[in-house]
Amino acid sequence: MSVPPLLNIENLKTYFYSKGRQAFIRSVDDVSFEIRRGETLGVVGESGSGKSVMALSVMGLVGAAPGVVAGRIGLKTDGIRKNLLQDLDDYVERVEADGRVVEVRKDVVGWQKNVERLMAMVRGKTVAMIFQNPKSSLNPFLSVGRQITEAIRLHTPCKGKAESRERALYWLERVRMDSPRLRYDNYPRALSGGMCQRAMVAMVLSCEPSFLIADEPTTGLDATIQSRIADLLAELKADLGVTTMLISHDIGIIRRLSDSVAVMYGGMVVEYGPAGKVLAAGPESGHPYTAALLASVPDERNIRGKEPLQAIPGDVPDTIHVPNGCRFYGRCVRVTAAVDKECASLLPPLSEITPGHAVRCWLYEGS
Ligand SMILES: Nc1ncnc2c1ncn2[C@@H]1O[C@H](COP(=O)(O)OP(=O)(O)OP(=O)(O)O)[C@@H](O)[C@H]1O
Ligand code: SF4
Ligand SMILES: [Mg+2]
Repeated sequence: MSVPPLLNIENLKTYFYSKGRQAFIRSVDDVSFEIRRGETLGVVGESGSGKSVMALSVMGLVGAAPGVVAGRIGLKTDGIRKNLLQDLDDYVERVEADGRVVEVRKDVVGWQKNVERLMAMVRGKTVAMIFQNPKSSLNPFLSVGRQITEAIRLHTPCKGKAESRERALYWLERVRMDSPRLRYDNYPRALSGGMCQRAMVAMVLSCEPSFLIADEPTTGLDATIQSRIADLLAELKADLGVTTMLISHDIGIIRRLSDSVAVMYGGMVVEYGPAGKVLAAGPESGHPYTAALLASVPDERNIRGKEPLQAIPGDVPDTIHVPNGCRFYGRCVRVTAAVDKECASLLPPLSEITPGHAVRCWLYEGS
């Protein structure tokens, strides 16, 4: 029997408005996927493909307008499936033309007020996020221990001072912080980047969330610390089985930790499926973008010197004036005469090529 998803995102659209170009930046454009309980979903894609905006949309933390304009974010919490965008359609009107949202009228204040109401019950407690830059995510004016203790008292049944302090120390030890008792009283500025990331992981996990979003948890740290944080995440996955969305440019850590993988390109998911299948993409298999991405980033395959790194030709797509056809057209080296017309003029659907493995590419349609 298949495990029901803990999180399911359906047709999520998150846009910003470019005043200069008087058009929408379609940062997340009709994204759908699900994550089953205990599973780690790896999310990969070039810079600007919409990974962080998608994660922030799930957390209800998109700051600029119009922000989330459509979709459904289902999350199972306390045994009940909630839509984190429940009734929010009352605050937004969309005008569509040719299947695209071309105008949005949104009561941003009313929307955000309701997002806060819906998220208050789940943020930190059920779903929590580790951000890319741990130093700027921690409060510089509070000691690390106090921040963890306050998070525990706010989000867990543990309310007593002494008890929550003991739990905070337990978590500092659990993430292998050196001298946890000493570090408890340190302010973030006294800690290195790697220590801040450990403190952040300790703070997030001490609230025992069912769902964790880790956005580039190892970026910006030196190689040794990166590998230690990866070890820590692997250990926590094995011991606690926390359902996780892991966003990273580091294919090594994605390969090591992910059960399934979503590949994002120009605000859309172009490939999604079991990690083993998605990350096996080669010159003639999987989505052409996935193969190009894998060949362009350092990974065990090219680190061993067998396959040199190959930059993806062309520029990252502009999500303001999106083409009618495939968003990868123009950079794709696998377009054949048989599909060229479709590639240039029609957006390919995300279709299953084997059960659970979907690809958005005309090469696989009708095969
Ligand atoms: N507040 C904002 N206002 C306008 N545009 C934004 C805003 N936040 C993000 N964007 C745009 O949305 C797109 C997606 O950004 P996002 O940060 O999600 O990319 P990413 O895939 O996380 O990239 P990276 O790998 O560099 O972190 C980019 O074009 C970015 O410029
Ligand atoms: S649809 Fe066409 S352009 Fe797009 S990835 Fe497939 S072959 Fe390449
Ligand atoms: Mg990002």
